[in-house]
Amino acid sequence: MISMKIGVFGCGNMGSALVLGMKARFPNAEFFLFTPSKLKAQELAVRVGGSCLDLISDMPRDLDWYLLAFKPQGLDEFQFDFAPNSKIISILAGVKTSKLVEKFCSAKIARLMPNTPSALGLGCNLLFLNSHFNQIEEQEISLLLSAAGKLFAMKTEEDLDLTTAFSGSGPALIFELARIFEVELTRMTNGRVPAKEIVSQTFFGSAALMNAASNVDTSYEELRTQVTSKKGVTYEALEVLKKNNLQDVFSKAFEAAYKRTIELSK
Ligand SMILES: NC(=O)c1ccc[n+]([C@@H]2O[C@H](COP(=O)([O-])OP(=O)(O)OC[C@H]3O[C@@H](n4cnc5c(N)ncnc54)[C@H](OP(=O)(O)O)[C@@H]3O)[C@@H](O)[C@H]2O)c1
Repeated sequence: MISMKIGVFGCGNMGSALVLGMKARFPNAEFFLFTPSKLKAQELAVRVGGSCLDLISDMPRDLDWYLLAFKPQGLDEFQFDFAPNSKIISILAGVKTSKLVEKFCSAKIARLMPNTPSALGLGCNLLFLNSHFNQIEEQEISLLLSAAGKLFAMKTEEDLDLTTAFSGSGPALIFELARIFEVELTRMTNGRVPAKEIVSQTFFGSAALMNAASNVDTSYEELRTQVTSKKGVTYEALEVLKKNNLQDVFSKAFEAAYKRTIELSK
């Protein structure tokens, strides 16, 4: 396990985050990296002491695991002759395991929906395995991927697709909220306070409280109530969110993201 060999196709934001997370936990893991323009594979190879390949055909065919980490739109033109029974992990959003089984020689396809905190080992990652893995392989992949954060096993691909907007896209939605906090604080104080640090610490502390609360079964509503006294400062702010249907806005955003997942899977 510790000396596992992993082939990686695509070293952008997500591919790099996963490889860095795995390397930090399993220093002896060996990575073979390929990207068409070579630059990102080269950069990552330096960081993890891996091999950057000149050509896709240079990728060894006998590695323990392969990671597909390019955009789903690139799948049609992607060509690699996997050996039969290769174990392939795909992070291509929306692409069904059946489509990958059809395209490649191997039937062993795992779908992973990671998120970018994986680079710090703090990912919230969803995993669906098709029925062709044996128990040892299931344990191996869980161990490998748990290096990048918490791993949640999905019973169906539909559940993975439905959850994608919350975990995979989730950090972007949270960063958008953080950006709004920063812009508004800067506007209201005319730039006199360190807005970015204040926002960052507020999100960081709140996430830590949420994390602690999940261990003691405190709901998010209770956490919110702890900050809100009737007719107080926070109450006024929350009333504005309620009147402007923030929940409805998020509901539409999640539905739109799921619709796009389905479109990408066609
Ligand atoms: N970003 C996220 O938070 C997130 C979350 C969950 C899932 N995902 C999934 O992760 C995948 C990658 O997203 P990303 O944000 O990491 O994209 P990205 O930053 O644009 O990186 C894509 C990488 O794929 C490489 N590539 C393109 N065509 C290739 C091919 N034929 N063979 C091998 N590599 C190829 C690119 O190479 P060059 O460097 O040469 O251009 C680049 O290194 C997507 O399928 C996305 O759905 C992303």
